[in-house]
Amino acid sequence: MTPQSPTGPVGVGIIGAGTISVQYLTHLTSFPDVTVHIVGDLFPEAAAARAAEFGVPASGSTEDVLAHPDVEIVINLTIPTAHFEVSQAIVAAGKHVWTEKPITTSPADAKTLLAAAEAAGVRVGGAPDTVLGAGIQTALRTLRDGALGAPASALTLFQSPGPESWHPNPAFLFQEGAGPLYDIAPYYATTLVLALGPVVSVSAVGSKAREQRTIGSGPKAGEVFDVTVPTQVAALLRFGSGQNATVLLSFDSPNSRTGFVEVYGTEATLAFPDPNVFDGDSALTVYRGEEATTVPATGATTGRGLGVLEMARAIRAGVPHRAQGEIAAHVLDIMVGIETAIAENSIVEISSTFTEVEPMPADFDPFAATLTEASAAV
Ligand SMILES: NC(=O)c1ccc[n+]([C@@H]2O[C@H](COP(=O)([O-])OP(=O)(O)OC[C@H]3O[C@@H](n4cnc5c(N)ncnc54)[C@H](O)[C@@H]3O)[C@@H](O)[C@H]2O)c1
Repeated sequence: MTPQSPTGPVGVGIIGAGTISVQYLTHLTSFPDVTVHIVGDLFPEAAAARAAEFGVPASGSTEDVLAHPDVEIVINLTIPTAHFEVSQAIVAAGKHVWTEKPITTSPADAKTLLAAAEAAGVRVGGAPDTVLGAGIQTALRTLRDGALGAPASALTLFQSPGPESWHPNPAFLFQEGAGPLYDIAPYYATTLVLALGPVVSVSAVGSKAREQRTIGSGPKAGEVFDVTVPTQVAALLRFGSGQNATVLLSFDSPNSRTGFVEVYGTEATLAFPDPNVFDGDSALTVYRGEEATTVPATGATTGRGLGVLEMARAIRAGVPHRAQGEIAAHVLDIMVGIETAIAENSIVEISSTFTEVEPMPADFDPFAATLTEASAAV
């Protein structure tokens, strides 16, 4: 089905009026190139409250969002186990999909979704869109400009004591579908594949420092829960071009060191900013021997919703969007591959791939009105 508004701001609807919808609505309602028409949820009263909070004119059920005639992109902000079903319904309604991470919970479902979208002639875009922010995009442009020589390898570190000291309901973060692998890796793995291209194989080891943890805050403070997934994951990623990356993800470290991403080239090292934030200009540094040069970050520093906006402009311009569903599906394959490698003590081949995308232009301005009723621009 052809999108209903061929020119002008792109119509958007949201399904899932929970925690993260606040960030999306804050930003999307301030971008002139998109218009949020409706918010929906399994609980329409939650959708109504969220719509009222942000001055969105309509609210209702999932079906109401899918039936809205002015909605071209539907943003899926439901819980991970609902992502596949809801995104499939969006495609079936002839709308483009933007989905929060992970794209689905199984690689097979991701494949099915992408095939359905292609058959329907609609797009799939996927989080994280932090990697479209000024920090990571400036790092990617610096890499493409040849500042490092030939990129050869990378190292990422996310080390923390784990979230149970401050999160009032943390048990799920230590169980299947979460842990540092599924909760944290999307930011680091997406950054690495944007920098070095598709991954062809992974190996990994994982461990648990403790079998049980204790809730540290809120009404359940003092309650003990079981840890059922590895809380320390050390993975090796091999890229199609022969490069490799070492990835450490840990909830087992008494001290915190997060947001560490370095790419090592034949001439220099590039220290990326934290892939879980949009700006990070303080951490973007090129090291050549003892000499350190800071590169100022340029680009968009607004938060979640940036990927939806970039996709909206790409739809109007008829060009590929950057946060491709294929990339989100490839990152899911990498995470499942790491989990399998730990369980089987094996090297796991990754068969999915994606078409590489150019970094965002440095002058990408989320607040510019580029989509007029009469003309299309990017
Ligand atoms: N909370 C965060 O800080 C954060 C950060 C990054 C990414 N995310 C991602 O955002 C998504 C949502 O997270 P959240 O924290 O907002 O969750 P949440 O539980 O606060 O909200 C989810 C909402 O989706 C609704 N919902 C669930 N199943 C549905 C279905 N089948 N149909 C329609 N509505 C349904 C729920 O009623 C709820 O209102 C997740 O994919 C998560 O991985 C969250």
